[in-house]
Amino acid sequence: MLHRAQATIDRPQGWRDYVVPQRWEEFTDDDHAVWDLLFARQVELLGTRVVTPFLDGIDLLRLSHPGVPDLGELNAILEPRTGWRTVAVTGLVPDEIFFAMLSERVFPVGNFIRRREQLDYLEEPDCFHDLFGHIPMLANHDYAEMIEHVGRLGGAAIAAGEGHRVARIYWHSVEFGLALEEGDLKILGAGLASSFGEAHFSLESDSVDRLPFSVPRAVRTDYRNDVFQPLYLVSESVEATVGEILATSAEELLAI
Ligand SMILES: [Fe+2]
Repeated sequence: MLHRAQATIDRPQGWRDYVVPQRWEEFTDDDHAVWDLLFARQVELLGTRVVTPFLDGIDLLRLSHPGVPDLGELNAILEPRTGWRTVAVTGLVPDEIFFAMLSERVFPVGNFIRRREQLDYLEEPDCFHDLFGHIPMLANHDYAEMIEHVGRLGGAAIAAGEGHRVARIYWHSVEFGLALEEGDLKILGAGLASSFGEAHFSLESDSVDRLPFSVPRAVRTDYRNDVFQPLYLVSESVEATVGEILATSAEELLAI
């Protein structure tokens, strides 16, 4: 997810200043057990309710391997495949840092995992959200290219004082988007794929609105990050949304 700055900085920072060692060896047995519990529960919950490239990514990246993933081992598979790699961060990074990372095919992953008492409540995304929710789709070549493009659009939009335009595109596709796949409504976004409560809700609730995704509609649609979404945008297909976002230039985005 992307949001607010949390670091107090006294000199200009690049994204590399936010990278920390993952210190995988410091995850406890209970941390690994929490990952295993979350992973097993979410895979069962999702079944085939999530888009196919997501399920392919779980397999390709061997995310079903027990325990919190070691980012070095994960990158050894991911980077040769699509040029993306993960880095550890301590929490949410400022939007300009986040988009700068994306533009260089670097995905930030929290260096912590929720506690057992907090399985369904998170103040900010932990490594289960980041790794289970986001990383499978980065094994897909077209989606990988799209996210890099979102990073470039984000940098341009922030420079123009219009960062919210890209934040909304990201929110309504990469985080909380739905997508049609051979006529079936599926989960696309990482925020849904990694959520125990909202995954089924997004597909099945009859108290929410679902409207077709388009870049202009996403840009004009605000969102809430503290409650289940009252509105989901539905991609005609993953490929269609990837194509539409890739075809959007910064100039076009700022003219919406
Ligand atoms: Fe996220």
